[in-house]
Amino acid sequence: MADPQDQLFTRFGKTYAAGEVLFRDGEPGAEMYVIQSGSVRISKHVREIEKTLAVLGPGEFFGEMAILNNKPRSATATVHEDARLLLIDSRTFESMVTGNTEIALRIIRKLARRLDSADSLIEILLYRDPKARVILGLSRQAELEGTPAEGGIFVPIGSKDLADQVGLDPQLAMEVVGRLEKAGMLQEVEGGYVVRDIPRLQEFLEFLEMKEKFGDL
Ligand code: CMP
Repeated sequence: MADPQDQLFTRFGKTYAAGEVLFRDGEPGAEMYVIQSGSVRISKHVREIEKTLAVLGPGEFFGEMAILNNKPRSATATVHEDARLLLIDSRTFESMVTGNTEIALRIIRKLARRLDSADSLIEILLYRDPKARVILGLSRQAELEGTPAEGGIFVPIGSKDLADQVGLDPQLAMEVVGRLEKAGMLQEVEGGYVVRDIPRLQEFLEFLEMKEKFGDL
């Protein structure tokens, strides 16, 4: 029997090469996408800077908001690594959701996680101290995508993307990372960081929170 993934691909699938723009922020949209393989970057243009909101991989979906809200695309989607995508139009989407509670639940869970992750980003951006932003940004990324590694947790994010996410100048973010590295709290490795000492990072963050609240004592 044919693989169900292949059957779906025959019906709804298309292949895209890295760099292709699927849609841009502000355009009308009538389809959502499910990633079968490869990855897609979701980004938004904010004050001259193209800010990455997420890089989505196999099994994830995007483009559902325009269909659900009947509003223009809220962000730009660009193929990050060559991808096989399923294109689902709004009618098919509606019949999938109404006909299958498991699919509906998966979508709700995903949207709840996205809201949670957006809330934690808002919290990070409320901090003025760049050290607090870097620590919180790494903790958030560890929660989203961290994996156990020797001596800590591997957090897959580059310094540029980290700076981008927490709204810091890349140079400043690198300085902060360098200082945390010197203090033995983390180590830069290929493809990201190994966060070594989470309790100390947490303590340091609490100290920074006190400083923001009460100023230099
Ligand atoms: P839509 O508004 O149709 O087009 C842009 C898509 O990007 C949006 O639907 C969501 O699917 C996706 N998207 C928007 N914001 C985020 C985010 N913060 N994280 C992950 N995906 C997002």
